[in-house]
Amino acid sequence: MLQIDLSGKVALVTGGARGIGAAISSTLAKAGAQVWVNYAHSEGKAALLCQDIRAGGGTAASVQADITDPEQVRQMVEKVIRESGKIDYLINNAGVTSVKSLLELTSEEWNRVLGVNLDGPFLCCKEVLPHMVAAGQGAIVNISSTGALTGGGGGAHYAASKSALDSLTRALAREYAGHGIRVNGLAPTMIASDFLRQRYPDEQQRSELAALIPLKRLGTPDDVALMTAVLISGFAGYLSGETIVMDGGRTFA
Ligand SMILES: NC(=O)c1ccc[n+]([C@@H]2O[C@H](COP(=O)([O-])OP(=O)(O)OC[C@H]3O[C@@H](n4cnc5c(N)ncnc54)[C@H](OP(=O)(O)O)[C@@H]3O)[C@@H](O)[C@H]2O)c1
Repeated sequence: MLQIDLSGKVALVTGGARGIGAAISSTLAKAGAQVWVNYAHSEGKAALLCQDIRAGGGTAASVQADITDPEQVRQMVEKVIRESGKIDYLINNAGVTSVKSLLELTSEEWNRVLGVNLDGPFLCCKEVLPHMVAAGQGAIVNISSTGALTGGGGGAHYAASKSALDSLTRALAREYAGHGIRVNGLAPTMIASDFLRQRYPDEQQRSELAALIPLKRLGTPDDVALMTAVLISGFAGYLSGETIVMDGGRTFA
């Protein structure tokens, strides 16, 4: 039977305590990886998730860092390396949005969203890649959005941040392929999480949107988590620089 086996591997998941990130943390742990659950504010959720993972026989620990802060990212990676000795997989999942027209957008809000969605992955890659290079292997997954293609997702700030993240994916894939490191992206849309509830607070509106999706349902955090596991595994061993659209068939329907 074909199975994703990540035993002996170490994964760092940013924003890994809730929403899509929590599903990724749990799924990678179920596949056997030792998982580091990064959080900025959700300390309680991170602790509970790690407890759940350990109760299920997995290995997980939490690590606090605001990924927009270079020093906090440096300390986070240093802690993971000190305690686990390596990082095989980096999942740049943390992301934020807000619903704003361009004229409503302040520079502060632009910088906040670009800070988490783009500077964060840049800073995490910058700290993690030297360890992957030294090991001669590794895989990175950047959680993007179909907003990068459609301009949606809340506003120009969000769409621009995710388009730039896709470029970062391609640039790093080129730069690090020779070191045995693969870098890919996953662009979901309409995944049932706090993020979606913030974007569409009205439940009726969410049901109507689900009905418009060709597969007739919202995506789940587990949908994204399973594809993330595939992307870092040997099943995607010849894939790099690609961002996969995961949208129930909606974007190009
Ligand atoms: N849900 C969707 O429909 C959808 C669609 C397209 C793309 N996405 C993308 O999927 C990813 C996860 O989204 P989600 O739906 O799970 O969102 P969510 O439920 O709102 O969770 C956001 C996550 O980002 C973390 N985060 C925010 N700022 C951070 C910072 N400065 N440092 C570290 N972590 C930070 C949060 O951690 P704390 O709670 O600890 O602050 C939280 O874990 C995002 O990149 C998002 O753009 C989601």
